[in-house]
Amino acid sequence: MAVYKVNVNGASVNLTADDPNTPLLYLLQEQVQLNGPKFGCGLGQCGACTVLIDGVPSRSCTTNVADVAGKSVTSLEGLGTPANPHPIQQAFISQQAMQCGYCVSGPVLYGKAFIDANPGATRDQINTALGQSPLLCRCHAHSRMLNALVLYSQGLTK
Ligand code: FES
Ligand code: FES
Repeated sequence: MAVYKVNVNGASVNLTADDPNTPLLYLLQEQVQLNGPKFGCGLGQCGACTVLIDGVPSRSCTTNVADVAGKSVTSLEGLGTPANPHPIQQAFISQQAMQCGYCVSGPVLYGKAFIDANPGATRDQINTALGQSPLLCRCHAHSRMLNALVLYSQGLTK
């Protein structure tokens, strides 16, 4: 059993695994009790398991735990709280951007990373950027999510 020290949402945690290739997603769910990143496809194809690793959107289902030792992982839970949501979460709430919400880690975290690096990005720019990484939503809520990301990009949520 190996121990991997990882900063998860601002707290240092020791993730343990027999196999260094254990998917990060499994350990975030089982050992840190996170509910934000979801198991969708398990193949890196849908984005439901997205987290930020050192600020970079990454698919935790295809990220091995050994590859995140010493790094910082941020999930939806690390952005804000129900009582004090992050502005991008507030934008998703105000636009009613989610239906079931299962996929939302992908659009929120890919969107946040892109918009924070490109403040004021337009709808087309955001759409193009997110289109480079498949983000599947079975509820077909993409256009409402895009509305929320535009709101965040324009700084219209606090
Ligand atoms: S569950 Fe990871 S990309 Fe689908
Ligand atoms: S809101 Fe249901 S899968 Fe996207």
